[in-house]
Amino acid sequence: MDKERIFSVAVDGPAGAGKSTVARGAAKRLGIVYVDTGAMYRAMGLKALRLGVPADSEERVLPILDDTEITLRFIAGEQHIFLDGEDVTGLIRTQEVSNAASKISAIPAVRRKMVAIQQKLAEGVSLTMDGRDICSYVLPGAEYKFFVTASPDARTARRYKELSEKGTLGGMTFNDLLVEMHERDARDSGRDCMPLKKAPDAVLIDTTYMSIEESIDALLHYIDRASEA
Ligand code: DC
Repeated sequence: MDKERIFSVAVDGPAGAGKSTVARGAAKRLGIVYVDTGAMYRAMGLKALRLGVPADSEERVLPILDDTEITLRFIAGEQHIFLDGEDVTGLIRTQEVSNAASKISAIPAVRRKMVAIQQKLAEGVSLTMDGRDICSYVLPGAEYKFFVTASPDARTARRYKELSEKGTLGGMTFNDLLVEMHERDARDSGRDCMPLKKAPDAVLIDTTYMSIEESIDALLHYIDRASEA
């Protein structure tokens, strides 16, 4: 592939499909930037939680949106997310913040604000960006588009393992997580504004029975093949 060429890799998919791990790994192997857009909705969800604002109340969220500054910075090659100037990277991976992020991301004004920041970030640089709406709305002109998914059971099992390893399960069982996963899927796919949906021109990668390395290989294989075509 021509190293001077600027290109975007858009990766969408549901929670727990391994999308971020695959997108991050692919970016590393391609030597380009990786942007995790979910972190921005998570930071906004964290803000609502801190202020006691219900994340699904558009009328309560709108007044705080204009006063909120969300920025991404890259420190030693890793993405850090700043909420009103505070680095909240380590605070946004809890189940509580996941649910608040899913709810707040259904508010059109929140999405418009985040999408504008994401499109600006992508100007003039090669990157891999992952989220729910990247192929269809954020970077519809991306050179490479993927939809990374896995069965709900496989996705829940991965989330369960991740949370138990971090010690942040908080007494939740596999079944509790499975129910939450279904609720989150329904919310992310069922919202009116920019819902999670496979773009017609995105390549489907089902990681249910794949390791991380195999999933990254699959994605890079498609990029190689498409670049040669
Ligand atoms: O990818 P994640 O689990 O960190 O995302 C958190 C929530 O943010 C998820 O429930 C859906 C929402 N989200 C979105 O609506 N659009 C994106 N581009 C990224 C995330």
